[in-house]
Parts: sequence; C-alpha cells; structure tokens
Amino acid sequence: MTSGRTLWRNARLATLDGTAPWGWIEDGALLTEGDRIAWVGALSDDIPRYDDVQDLGGAVLTPGLIDCHTHLVYGGNRAREFEMRLNGASYEDIARAGGGIRSTVAATREASEDQLLALAQRRLDALLAEGVTTVEVKSGYGLSLEAEARSLRVARRLQGADVRTSYLGAHALPPEFAGRQDDYVDAVCEWMPALHAQGLVDAVDAFCEGIGFTPAQTRQVFEAARRLGLPVKLHAEQLSDQGGTELACEFGALSCDHLEWLSPAGVQAMAASGTVAVLLPGAYYFLRETKLPPVAALREAGVPMALATDHNPGTSPTLSPLLMLNMACTLFRLTPEEALRGMTVHAARALGLAEDRGRLAAGQRADFCAWNIEHPNELAYHFGRNPLRLAVRAGRIRT
Ligand code: NIG
Ligand code: FE
Repeated sequence: MTSGRTLWRNARLATLDGTAPWGWIEDGALLTEGDRIAWVGALSDDIPRYDDVQDLGGAVLTPGLIDCHTHLVYGGNRAREFEMRLNGASYEDIARAGGGIRSTVAATREASEDQLLALAQRRLDALLAEGVTTVEVKSGYGLSLEAEARSLRVARRLQGADVRTSYLGAHALPPEFAGRQDDYVDAVCEWMPALHAQGLVDAVDAFCEGIGFTPAQTRQVFEAARRLGLPVKLHAEQLSDQGGTELACEFGALSCDHLEWLSPAGVQAMAASGTVAVLLPGAYYFLRETKLPPVAALREAGVPMALATDHNPGTSPTLSPLLMLNMACTLFRLTPEEALRGMTVHAARALGLAEDRGRLAAGQRADFCAWNIEHPNELAYHFGRNPLRLAVRAGRIRT
C-alpha cells in the first residue's frame, strides 16, 4: 500500500451515512488517503485524482464493525457454572455463593500478564475474523490496583484493532474486602487517578445491580471519574431496575448497557442526555432472560441503539459479532439495518468516536469491510456463516 490516494472501486456501499436506507450507493467507489476516507460516491460521479486502484469485485462495503462492550481479558472459563445453571442454580445464586465474577477474578489473578495477553489476543482474533476494526475492552476481573492495571495494559497491547479501555473496578467485591463494600468503592476511586496517569483509561464503567454496587456507590465512582474528566458508562438495569440509568445520564454517560429492566423514566433520561443504549443479546440469550429491553420505547424516544458482544466468561462467551446482529433481530426485533447501525454508527458514539468512525464518509477513519453478499441485510440473516472478504483498517488491508 502507498500512503497516497487509493480508489476502492467495483463495490456497493452501505455507507450508513445520513438517514436514507443503508446510506446505499449502487456502483460505488471510495477514495482513501492515508488512514482517512477522502471521498465516497458513485462510479458515474467525477472521481477525484488517485494514485492506485483496488477492485473489490462487486462486494458490499460497510464501515468496520465496532464491538463497543467486551470483557476480553480474563483467565479460565465458567463452563462449570453454565452446567450449574442448567441444573437449577441462578446467575445470582452462583454470584452470592462466591462464584460468578469472583471465580474469574481468582483465575485472572493467577495468570501472568503474558498469559492474559495470549488468551485475549486469541479472543480478539476471532472478532477480527468477522470484521471488527475497533473494540472496547473492560477491566473488572483484577479488582486490585495492580491486577486492574495489568488487565488494562494487556488491552492496550492487543494487536489488529483499535482498542478503547474502560476501567470497571466496580464490577464485584474482591474477597479481601468481604463485608467492606464501601471501603472497596473508596479504593476503586483511589486507584483511578493512578491508572489514568498511566494512560490506561478511556472511560469508567460500573456494575449497578443488587449483586453489584448501589446507585450511591456508583455515584461515588462517577464523581471520581468526573474529577479526572473521564467519560462514564454503566452496566445498568440488567437484572433489576436500580435507577442506574437516570444516575448515569446525570453524568452525561456515553452509554448505558444491557437495559432489560429499563423504566419509561430511564428511557426519557437517555433521550434527554443523548446517551447510547447498548443492547447485548448474547447475555440476554445465555442467561435465558425473558424480560426484553424496551426497544420500541427507545426507538420511539430517538435513543440511539448500539449492539455489542459483551464477550465475557459468565454471561456471554460468544466471539461472534455477526451472530449478535442476527440475535438483535430475532430476539430484540431490531431491523437488520438498525442492527448494523448499532455495530457501526451508534457503537462509535457509545465510545465517544462518532465524529471519527462508524460511517463511510469523507473525513472518517478508513476502516471498512468488504463482504461476499448481495445485500447488507444478509449480515443479520446468515447466522453461523461469515461472509467477510477483507477488512481495511486505517486505509490498509488487514492481513
Ligand atoms: O456484562 N453484568 C456484569 N458483567 C458482565 C458479566 C460478568 C461475569 O459474569 O463474569 C456482563 O454481563
Ligand atoms: Fe458487560
């Protein structure tokens, strides 16, 4: 590849730019310069000067997929707990008995940094194979200053996609703080400036839930984030309505994620603060939830809906963003176009990157995928099949 101007032609573009269906351009072409898109249009338009050409063989082009909610860095797995749940235990029962997140914390603490990196890279490679070009990675399985720093460093060392990190110290109570939840929240807040000073934190997340942290504790974490100028997001209303969403919106949260138990007041708060609703059908499916997130109300209120894998060992061990597109349609009744916008345009916004990526438009990062399909609705349709032909990241074909 040169750093000059490359014309990518013989493609059909789902630009997802603007509100026209799919932002569709039949007989499309796209010009990149360095790591940016310089021009997007139809072959019949006046095409600006270019230095070299790539023929895309009639493929459908979309923005690169953005997985805006993952927990990729951890040791072990929780297949045994999956079995226990099938034998009648609930996710909350297992968590209260010291399993759940805390069993992954033990396995994560035991692993070395290089071991964690090898495990996380293998997981990321699976996401890359389905067209992910940007991924968010949370900490939250270390739960000490050193172990959280280690997880975030591992996230920063991952290769093949751009990584945004979220500090999720308020994920569960580590055993050394048993019975001292408020002390642990103090510690989470104290560690934050140190992690931030090491350049390890792009956003701060928390798990506001009966088996997680209270709204008051979440507020304390968000206030610490605000003092550092860090944006916040929240695991909110996953298993019960705690009012975490309203709290997060008060802090101008980038996103609230899960949202199965979101109330009408929560929907209105999100609409007013411009917060993105990140829907996670993998966790809904794997926990065999029956309460659906209020998709129709979110749509009606104009709340942008993003979609992510939530890859984690406890509630969503999937590494297939394409399967999430399908499940968002079958389980949550998103349209195929809403699903794809959810993993591109709106996912970018959930990471504070809306101006930078998520659409095929001049000025955006040259991150895109070419798919061996006839129409972009097939991305949500072929579950269990991967039609990726090639992925371009920052203007270069990813090999
Ligand atoms: O996004 N809900 C909290 N956090 C994760 C699950 C973590 C785990 O069970 O290990 C989630 O669902
Ligand atoms: Fe999560």
